Formats: sequence, structure tokens, C-alpha cells
Amino acid sequence: MTKHFPSIGSGRLMSVLEVLSGKPVFPPPIWMMRQAGRYLPEYRETRKQAGSFLDLCYNPDLAFEVTMQPIRRFGFDASILFSDILVVPHALGRDLRFEEGRGPLMTPVTADDIHRLDGSDFHQHLAPVYETVSRLRKALPTETALIGFCGAPWTVATYMIAGHGTLDQAPGRLFAYREPAAMALLLDTLADHSAEYLIRQVDAGADVVQIFDSWSGVLDEASFTAFCVAPVARMVAKVRSVHPKIPIIGFPKGAGVLYERYRQDTGVDALGIDWTVPVSFGARLQSDGAVQGNLDPMRLVAGGQALRDGVDAILRSLGNGPLIFNLGHGITPETPIDHVEAMIAQVRNAAR
Ligand code: CP3
Repeated sequence: MTKHFPSIGSGRLMSVLEVLSGKPVFPPPIWMMRQAGRYLPEYRETRKQAGSFLDLCYNPDLAFEVTMQPIRRFGFDASILFSDILVVPHALGRDLRFEEGRGPLMTPVTADDIHRLDGSDFHQHLAPVYETVSRLRKALPTETALIGFCGAPWTVATYMIAGHGTLDQAPGRLFAYREPAAMALLLDTLADHSAEYLIRQVDAGADVVQIFDSWSGVLDEASFTAFCVAPVARMVAKVRSVHPKIPIIGFPKGAGVLYERYRQDTGVDALGIDWTVPVSFGARLQSDGAVQGNLDPMRLVAGGQALRDGVDAILRSLGNGPLIFNLGHGITPETPIDHVEAMIAQVRNAAR
């Protein structure tokens, strides 16, 4: 299956867009989830200057700077906007802060609060993010794809309900079963605003968008269908009604055998796969379009033989189909930079 996306700029065609159109490229293009982050000394320096994490997200000068850092250092094939998935509930009037070592903190939403979510200031609140995207597209090399993103409604809802990260998002699951009407309204509200957020990012210059559903793996089959697949399908349809050709990557982390149904029923072009997905199953998924992944971030922390074997297994099994090489989840702060360099060299020097 080959789809046609426009090439951008006058330079080389973006390899990421080629792969997303269904065409295998070898060696595959490479980028890393959370590639702008605490494993980089230059990120830690800018982060200190910014004061708070949210100031970094909402300051176009600083957000531009940290987005460019991994591109300058490693020359990745894709750049991902620096922001966070929780700016969407923040723009709907919910409070949000990030505490060192504790991650995001919010006041938990109640069913009543959900009826009072206020989107009247939504795009004004997010205007600095659109400004960052626009500056990035102008500054990036023509062959480097710019990825915009948002969280999937289910994952964002779990943080809004618990007020912080948890081991298995039990508060979000419980709320969904006790308050089905409020949950449905919350997912619809998030889906519609998140789709509009992605549309504005594409208007501003994003070449691709990714929808992060980091917590889809905690749900049973019926809830996966209702809370992950249906809201993302609604978003994909809404984004495509304005930008019919924009490539969309869905990342339902932990979806297991449900990955197949997720692609069919949401209509995303490509699937981000986590490291627990067997590469043989990943290769099967490639018959319907591109996959992105799926190195265990702990192999990257360990380095050496563990890293070489992990990279090799992915290239051997997924390298013949449409593949964007990536980690199976975000890079962690303790990752040595020379391991990142070794991974990139192994992928770029790979021979079939
Ligand atoms: O990938 C990139 O480089 C782009 C930036 C990006 C961030 N968050 C920056 C960030 C992206 C794409 C995200 C997505 C995000 N944010 C997700 C989905 C992907 C995933 O990792 O599962 C989620 C669940 C969040 C919410 C969030 N933000 C959490 C749970 C945390 C704390 C965890 C941690 O690593 O501290 C954050 C903070 C965060 N977002 C950091 C970064 C670089 C670290 C905070 C810091 O620098 O102080």
C-alpha cells in the first residue's frame, strides 16, 4: 500500500515521509522519543535558565532551542516539537505544575468540573507553541521532518483524574466505570480540542503528527475500544477533514495484539510500537503501513552487546519493510550520550 504525501522544500525528500507513505528506506530514518531531555547537558542548562518546566514549554525562544539541541548534536531524521501532552488540559483551564522528581501535578477533576472545562481561551493559551512550530520549520534542514504531537484523550484523562502519574492509572479506570457519562464527555472534549491543536500545529508547519497513548496498555478489550480507539478515530477524522494528507503516527503503548485493530479502526498511517511487541508481529503490522520503534530504552542505558543485539534484531526483522527506527518509549535521563552515538552509528552503517 503506497500513499502519496507532498515533499517539502527543495532539498532531499524527507526519509520519514517516504517511510510514512509506505515505502521501505534502508538504512531506516531514526529519531528518539524524548530526544530533547535531561540526558543532554545542554538541555539541563537551558532548563535551569527557564526556571520551571512549563516556562520552557511556553517560551518559543527556549522551546525552539531545546528542540534543536538533539538535531545539532546527532542529526536525527526527525525533530519533535518540545512541549508536553498536559498543555491541553492546562489550556482548558485546569491547573498544572511539574515538580522535580515527581512529574506532573494537577488538581484531580470531578464529574462536575468536566462540564465546566473552558475552551474559550484555548488557542490563545497555546499560541506560543504554534510560534515555536513555525520557527522550527523555518530553521530545520529540508530533509528533517518536524513532528507535532499531542496526548491521546485516554492518557491525558488519566492524569486529569488522578492528578499525577500512578503505576497503573487505577483512578482513571475506576472513574470511567463509576462515571461513564462524565468520562464520555471528557474524552469527547479532549478529542475535539486535541484535534484542533494538531490542526494548528500543521498550519504552523508540522510535517507529521504523533498521538501519544502511553496508558492504553492498562485497559481490557472493551475499554480499549471505547476509550482509546474511538476517541483517536474521532481525532483522525477531524484532522483529516482539514489536512487530508497529513501523516499521523499513533502510539498506543502496550496495546499488544490490539495494535492491528487500532490501526484499522483509527485510520492512523503508522504505529509506534513499544519494546514488548515481538519483531515478527511488528513485521506483520508492516503489511498495512509503517511501524516506528521499538528498542527497549534500557538496552540503550546498558550499551555494549545488549544494545548491539537489540538494534540488530530490529533491523533484521523490520528493516525490509517501512520502518522508522526509534525507542519503544522515551529515553531516560541516565542514558550515556556515547550509547546514543553508538546506536545511531549502528543504524546508519547497517548493510542488508
Ligand atoms: O520527545 C520529545 O523530546 C518532546 C517532548 C515531550 C515531553 N513530554 C517533554 C518532557 C513529549 C513528546 C512528551 C510527552 C508526554 N508527556 C507523555 C507521552 C509520552 C510518554 O513519555 O509516555 C506523557 C505521559 C507526558 C506527561 C509527563 N511529562 C510526565 C509523566 C512527566 C514526568 C516524567 C519525567 O520524565 O520526569 C513529564 C515531564 C517531561 N516532559 C520532561 C520532558 C523532557 C522531563 C521534565 C523536566 O525536564 O524537568
